[in-house]
Amino acid sequence: MTAGIIERYAPYLPVTPRTPLVTLGEGSTPLVRSSRIGPALGLDQLYFKYEGLNPSGSFKDRGMALATARAVEAGAETLLCASTGNTSASASAYAARCGLRAVVVVPAGGVATGKLAQALAYGAIIVVVNGSFDRALKLVRQVADEPAVALVNSVNPYRIEGQKTAAFEIVEQLGRAPAELYIPVGNAGNITAYWRGFCELASRSGTSLPVLHGAQAAGAAPLVRGRPVTQPRTVASAIRIGNPASWSTAIEARDASGGTIEAVTDVEIMTAHRRLAREEGLLVEPASAAGVALLVKRSAGRISGASEPIVCVLTGHGLKDPQALTRGLKIPRPVEPTLKALKRALQA
Ligand code: F0G
Repeated sequence: MTAGIIERYAPYLPVTPRTPLVTLGEGSTPLVRSSRIGPALGLDQLYFKYEGLNPSGSFKDRGMALATARAVEAGAETLLCASTGNTSASASAYAARCGLRAVVVVPAGGVATGKLAQALAYGAIIVVVNGSFDRALKLVRQVADEPAVALVNSVNPYRIEGQKTAAFEIVEQLGRAPAELYIPVGNAGNITAYWRGFCELASRSGTSLPVLHGAQAAGAAPLVRGRPVTQPRTVASAIRIGNPASWSTAIEARDASGGTIEAVTDVEIMTAHRRLAREEGLLVEPASAAGVALLVKRSAGRISGASEPIVCVLTGHGLKDPQALTRGLKIPRPVEPTLKALKRALQA
């Protein structure tokens, strides 16, 4: 059995002897070497950290395992979150696992079908609000201090602590820190968590620090513009966020690493989304392609390629957003089960 993140990284996590080893087998996700996008960009060593292979299909499971464990330890009965979808799917799964109630508050029309289906199937109470993710988060923060309720958005410090284990894994898998890391940015918890993970490793064992490049969608890019966006718009619903909770720590990560947080358009995101599927065999949701879109954009300006390892974080699985996968495509109509019909179909 593969140990989960609490068991694997306990010495580096805020746990006590009483913290239960809550796990669905999260973490230990593959670092897949690029076979076609990297070479096409002149990048010798491009890797994808495929976080969509976590138990609920996104990176959120790392932080959720720890946040749930600490909530159970504290006697909580309910996990509460606002979400663009993945946090709600993850919270619902871990709540089910531990016999807790999950209450998830999501923006109307703002959550991909697969994620809503997950929360429903795991038995969560779903509240759909007529408003943005930012409004939903503000709302749940106001009820979070009720007894026996644990708020499990990334404002919960255990979420960030759990998520930093992805940085540990990358260094284990590469045998060193990458030179650069590309990552989508929404509520900005994950970029905060990666930076913390890399910094802890650097002070513990002297590994180098990567340059972080955060990608926001152009219509939802508060960190790029330097001010909140009241009506964030993007096809990448997971990162449709106008006022990130971890704003200042994301800016710190950017500046301390000597990196950037940049905007990519929906067209650039969907082009990268398609290339990951068609040129790498990696299915991701649109938000997860934002980091790759930024890498492609930045590489256009590179005079020569790079031989040092570069990692793109693929945050969520493609099956979560089936509409995005089939955009502009037609599902083939049935044909007669004959050799003739098959041959005709193959010629088309
Ligand atoms: N990628 C995916 C697939 C996400 O679901 C999210 C965030 C991000 C990237 C951005 O990560 O917020 O730490 O900067 N999803 C949250 C949610 C907001 O509610 O599921 P972040």
